[in-house]
Amino acid sequence: MAAASKVKAPTDPAELAKWRADEQVRERSKREKEKSELASLWSRRDFLGRLGWGGFGAVTTIGLLAAVRSAFPRVLFLPPSKFKAGFPSDYVVGEVSEKFKQDFRTWIIRTKAGFYAIFAKCTHLGCTPRWLKAEQKFKCPCHGSGYYISGLNFEGPAPRPMDRFKIYVGDDGELVVDKSVIYTMAPGVDPNEQYPQSILKVA
Ligand code: FES
Repeated sequence: MAAASKVKAPTDPAELAKWRADEQVRERSKREKEKSELASLWSRRDFLGRLGWGGFGAVTTIGLLAAVRSAFPRVLFLPPSKFKAGFPSDYVVGEVSEKFKQDFRTWIIRTKAGFYAIFAKCTHLGCTPRWLKAEQKFKCPCHGSGYYISGLNFEGPAPRPMDRFKIYVGDDGELVVDKSVIYTMAPGVDPNEQYPQSILKVA
């Protein structure tokens, strides 16, 4: 490595003073330059450091949120056990309403005697029968069971009538079907006789 060349200081007092002043300026500017290089190096390190901590924070937050989320079971949006079924005046006497069959597997029937709600489930193997208006009967597509409008079975392999749910009038005057209350039918007896309380009489 080459040795650093040394500048000789002038001997004349005036030149020496100027030389020293120049030296000081040079020295000061050298230090300023070094300081600014150092500052820029730290600011780069700071930025990278912050970036690293930011990433760490984000990953930790996501992990925490996932842990909290897994602590709670997923909410299943199942149909509630009760549902509102409109006002009694919405129903025509003698008709089977299929309005709630798809969402609640329930037929609502209005007769002269009152309202009742049939669980649309065949008592043979659980298929969903169809209401055949022209024939005034429920017919199961699976093995051919047939039921009267009351739900009483009369043909096919079904062993007993279809069950009913409780139906009542709510405080606001609307019909409410409570699927948690099931009138389970025994074989061979008309459902209206088995469970007269399953019929809602509306004046
Ligand atoms: S499931 Fe309805 S007849 Fe078999």
